[in-house]
Amino acid sequence: MKNIVLIGMPGSGKSTVGKQVARTLDYRFFDTDMMIEQAAGIPISIIFEEFGESHFRDLETAAARHAAIQTRAVISCGGGMILREENVMALRKNGLLFYLCRPLAQLLQTDLFDRPLVQNDEQRLTALYEQRAPLYEASAAFTIFNDKSAQHAADEIVAAYRSEEDESLEPIDS
Ligand code: S3P
Repeated sequence: MKNIVLIGMPGSGKSTVGKQVARTLDYRFFDTDMMIEQAAGIPISIIFEEFGESHFRDLETAAARHAAIQTRAVISCGGGMILREENVMALRKNGLLFYLCRPLAQLLQTDLFDRPLVQNDEQRLTALYEQRAPLYEASAAFTIFNDKSAQHAADEIVAAYRSEEDESLEPIDS
């Protein structure tokens, strides 16, 4: 069985929904932002401030590699994970990628003060959304809308995952 990998914009609900999916399937939950903070011993905002975005992206690639070798795992990715093709390739090897899509209007109502690239700036968030949405769509096997409740989105992910995995287990007719 493949891992479940959640990608999407900051504030799209990846961690909340991911934890519910992990609970339902009895999988372990990983959050690449948390992995980075634990390894570095400092918050992401400080990594950006002190060492810059490109250093953060290197740490993110290391986290992607580490997460990708887990099994029976739900992996919630930082919003920029899809910026490097090598991250997507690594996570796809043993994982099914889901784009958790929350409408821009709802994202704009979310408190994103602690996200260095957004910081509650409406214009920045809108620009990031327009630039990223096609990348998320191209990277994911499924797009799941998180515009109702987190439980609803989690149920949709579990249903899509089960049907995909069942199909891959079906015997090939000879
Ligand atoms: C980022 C999103 C953040 C975090 C970092 C960069 C991005 O994660 O990885 O601030 O480039 O979109 P969340 O998507 O969990 O907020």
